[in-house]
Amino acid sequence: MCGIVAAIAKRNVTVILLEGLKRLEYRGYDSAGLALLEPDSHALITRKVVGKVAALEEAVDGARGNVGIAHTRWATHGKPNHINAHPHTSGSVAIVHNGIIENYQTLRDQLIAKGYVFASQTDSEVIAHLMHEALKTEASLVAALQTTVQQLRGAFSIAAMQADNPNVIAVAKKDSPLVIGVGIEENYVASDPLALRQVTDRFVYLQDNETAEITLQGYTIYNVGGEAVEREIERATDEIESIDKGEFRHFMLKEIFEQPKALKDTLMGRTGNDAVLEQAFGSEASDIFDQVKAVQIVACGTSYHAGIVAKYWLEDWAGIPCNVEVASEYRYRKTVTLPNTLFVTISQSGQTADTLAALDKSKSQGYLASLAICNVASSALVRNSDLVFLTQAGIEIGVASTKAFTTQLIALQLLAIALGRRSNINAEREKQLVKGLMDLPVFAAAVLQLNSHIQTISHHFTERHHSLFLGRGVQYPIAMEGALKIKEISYIHAEAYPSGELKHGPLALVDSDMPVVAVAPSGDLLEKIKSNLEEVAARGGKLYVFADENAGFTNDEQTTVINIPHCQESIAPIIYTLPLQLLSYHVAVNKGTDVDQPRNLAKSVTVE
Ligand code: G6P
Repeated sequence: MCGIVAAIAKRNVTVILLEGLKRLEYRGYDSAGLALLEPDSHALITRKVVGKVAALEEAVDGARGNVGIAHTRWATHGKPNHINAHPHTSGSVAIVHNGIIENYQTLRDQLIAKGYVFASQTDSEVIAHLMHEALKTEASLVAALQTTVQQLRGAFSIAAMQADNPNVIAVAKKDSPLVIGVGIEENYVASDPLALRQVTDRFVYLQDNETAEITLQGYTIYNVGGEAVEREIERATDEIESIDKGEFRHFMLKEIFEQPKALKDTLMGRTGNDAVLEQAFGSEASDIFDQVKAVQIVACGTSYHAGIVAKYWLEDWAGIPCNVEVASEYRYRKTVTLPNTLFVTISQSGQTADTLAALDKSKSQGYLASLAICNVASSALVRNSDLVFLTQAGIEIGVASTKAFTTQLIALQLLAIALGRRSNINAEREKQLVKGLMDLPVFAAAVLQLNSHIQTISHHFTERHHSLFLGRGVQYPIAMEGALKIKEISYIHAEAYPSGELKHGPLALVDSDMPVVAVAPSGDLLEKIKSNLEEVAARGGKLYVFADENAGFTNDEQTTVINIPHCQESIAPIIYTLPLQLLSYHVAVNKGTDVDQPRNLAKSVTVE
């Protein structure tokens, strides 16, 4: 999604801006641009490109500036083209914007009536013209921005600069992330601190409805009433993580192979003496968990699938009713809250707009407390939740989520055990479940050995247009996740079904052109899955069965079996996810798609 980087310094800031944009590239975007104030003349220079930041770097072609704002755009209003790329200008003002201005059409009409001419189809351009208009009466850039944001409805983070006012950058935030990076005689702004980690580890987080003025010497934050507010500087404690692919061809493959480590890191310090350490969820966790009678989970995309897996665990092991819903539905629906319900959000980024809005809504719905399961410590989701479990997946660059998902499943399994030990899970069972978790890194490494076998099989999918993914019980959401991965990166239509539902529709689609992927670990439902698969084979369907090595599946003309090392049932959903990730990866590579940045998708969906 869109990214913002801005800087003011005594030196040339183009390197800071371009490096910052590169660090945000993984989030997905379609065009990029920057504006600079030329050091001597203070003339406004803008450069825009459709495509990658590397192309912008070429377009910059040695241009210099001591003040600059830069942007990667993910199109919402208006096509991804040169004109719609940011920055947008009006006279001497230049702005970049993340988010959506909901009332832009009204504002646009009003501005046109005043004689403004619009160059683009974007909603963002109104901001530049509103600021230009406001500067006719306001004395400073930040005052003009304050007047402007009062007229905006929707979500925004904005950075603005002005040729006539060369010593300042003005910024504003509402429902879209923005952080000030603090340097020594230079200061920065970004939509994500990651963009600035190469220049600082000191950050000041803006809150909603705040504006700020950034200069060489410092910054002043203003609340909605225009009064200056104090805010502590937070020091980023994370190590600067490498964002290079190493020996791997794509980030996604690297991240799939990082899972043994990510799982191990996420478990570290979260169990002890064969039991779950509840402090992993926060110091208040035990008191809150004592009162939990139900769980409501809200998330999007892959994180939503993790939530569905958790429903099986919470209801089966802990006997706790659990409802799971996608955030975009939950946030706008009239919902009913059962007494003593824990509200759980799951998000890799902690920045997904719908999930943040759902958390916001939950605060007025009578929940017991909120818990965020998240991979980014500095995110808004983490900062706004009562309890937090930080997954330790490390930075995830590939748009298709892999290691974030499996580490979320660890967090959710630990939650199910922690809640369940108050009722259904005795010490012996807890010990067995914890042992299963401790075995995870080894099993994950073992299953990754299947990579070349899966690569061979992947060729059977390359020319297909549709595919079906089947699972039963807790493996049904794993089949959903497998289908989502195929869709996201190989652009093959994939549907997931609980295999018991086959007869109620999807069987009509089955023929020799439709690969059917089944997830079949050992367990109570194995025999039922086998008969479901017989139904597919009888209709000439081609089966690809990811099965426990002891499950007794055999290869034949119609059936390809991928044997998975036998593991404890409680960790099977996590283990079976990995070969499905590998399958989608190889199919996408065969098809030659942009694996890490698939078309039309973004890593962090920071707008509705
Ligand atoms: C986007 C990403 C997905 C991700 C989803 C939710 O759609 O492409 O990979 O699962 O957002 O993101 P979150 O950061 O909230 O987990």
